[in-house]
Amino acid sequence: MPKIELHLHHEGGAPPAFIRGLAAEKKVDLSGIFREDGSYAYRDFNHFLSVYEAATSVLTGPEDFARLTRAVLEESAAHGVVYTESFLSPDFCGGGDVGAWRDYLAAIREVADETERDMGITLRGVVTCIRHFGPEKAKPAAICAAETAGDFIVGFGMAGDELVGEPADYLWSFDCAREAGLQITVHAGEWGGPQSVRAALEDLNPARIGHGVQAIEDDALVDTLAERGTVLEVCPGSNVFLGVYPNLRMHPIQRLRERGVKVTVSTDDPPFFHTTMTREYEALEATFGWGEEDFAEVTETALAAAFCDDSTKDKIRERLT
Ligand code: ADE
Ligand code: ZN
Repeated sequence: MPKIELHLHHEGGAPPAFIRGLAAEKKVDLSGIFREDGSYAYRDFNHFLSVYEAATSVLTGPEDFARLTRAVLEESAAHGVVYTESFLSPDFCGGGDVGAWRDYLAAIREVADETERDMGITLRGVVTCIRHFGPEKAKPAAICAAETAGDFIVGFGMAGDELVGEPADYLWSFDCAREAGLQITVHAGEWGGPQSVRAALEDLNPARIGHGVQAIEDDALVDTLAERGTVLEVCPGSNVFLGVYPNLRMHPIQRLRERGVKVTVSTDDPPFFHTTMTREYEALEATFGWGEEDFAEVTETALAAAFCDDSTKDKIRERLT
């Protein structure tokens, strides 16, 4: 089935062999972040974030991001993804310098254009600040986002450790991005409970929430999400792999849907969590009995919630039929 993915961290799509290859080329010892079988090695969420940042440290220039983009989009296209929004962080692409950021973006876009032509997958970028890097680092990220907002950079968001600080601490950056016309998504309710989702909603008024699944613990909040039409970028495989839920049966995606919350399905950081969009779909079919109509519904929700412009949506709609 043709698929739409709204929640994919660009560097989080890097296959471990790709990162190992870059590390060898650059003579950087990253042996500590891999298991013997070649997969990424980490103990828990915080350790995952540091392994992620270590892996990202060998992506040192636009050419590396061009190669990464090709690897990520080829893999997504192989799983039927026709439209994807990936999270791009100026922190990992030039350190917040606007000139350097433009060079990274140009390299990414060149590959995205090629891949669109050759494989029928369209990429758009959502610039993300990293919450545990703090509000001061978020500001140059937001400026990079605002300076490059347009047909490719379509949104601004926040990833990282949601237990650090408050969403309101990042208000300057979100206002800056919003004033530039960017749409907003915030990671919340992956680890921080319903209160974290509530704070993100109240302080930053996002159209979408990254994860948001722990909202299920608060009935009034679930109603609020349903009433506001806030779209959740749900990443079931990521949540199970990281231990937010012990298994998919215990995952709230189906209960949220039944309560009228708009949900979409994504992989987050597929090689880190041993998942793909195909695996996500297969698991949802096996666990909750989702069939064609259910998948068509989440795809429609994702298309409506995508941050790209209407003419891009029309093109994607054609690919879905
Ligand atoms: N960055 C990459 N993956 C993430 C996740 N699952 N949660 C928060 N930040 C992330
Ligand atoms: Zn994420």
